[in-house]
Amino acid sequence: MSIEVWQGDITQLAVDAIVNAANETLLGGGGVDGAIHRAAGPGLLAECEQLPELRPGIRCPTGEVRATSGHALPARHVFHTVGPVWRDGRHDEAALLANCYWQSLRLAEQMGLESIAFPAISCGVYGYPLHQAAHIAVTETVTWQKSHARPLRIILVAYNAAAFKIYQQALADAGGTQKSHFLEDLKPAMG
Ligand code: APR
Repeated sequence: MSIEVWQGDITQLAVDAIVNAANETLLGGGGVDGAIHRAAGPGLLAECEQLPELRPGIRCPTGEVRATSGHALPARHVFHTVGPVWRDGRHDEAALLANCYWQSLRLAEQMGLESIAFPAISCGVYGYPLHQAAHIAVTETVTWQKSHARPLRIILVAYNAAAFKIYQQALADAGGTQKSHFLEDLKPAMG
């Protein structure tokens, strides 16, 4: 079992599931949400539109996760989770963000998946401070792997060098293992 830090575009990873930092409508957006929908093709949005609405316009409440297939992505599945919008740290932001990781790992285990990759949920448009979010991402994944056999491989994806260093440091501080050089085997052979 491992937790790996990788820098790059999550849509390139040929893993069992990539996690999307979505919004509650699940109808796409910018950032990693936009990148995943572009790479997956129109079938992903069509599948999301079929997911039941809990309330008008709300398909996935903050802190929860919904699964779809990966469509044209190299990943088999997309786990759409909705991170908290950062306000001031006193509106349950940490608990809601932790739940995004924990619920996604639970769903991966229930589906028997071997590998899952997370972007830095809430760290873009939603404004979550990256150091705090990285600490939560590492704490949840390290804690999960101490008591669960699946998924075997958890990948924390940093989109730039600064985020990569922050994730690496958070993982080192938590005593987690990192084998980021292994990830070359997860990228589809470039045609
Ligand atoms: N691969 C990996 N990481 C990426 C990619 C990519 N292709 N594109 C962006 N990121 C990183 C950003 O650099 C940031 O660190 O993903 C992190 C999350 O940023 P956002 O995508 O802005 O997500 P978030 O902050 O959770 O805001 C979600 O933005 O796109 C909308 O519909 C989405 O309303 C929702 C909100």
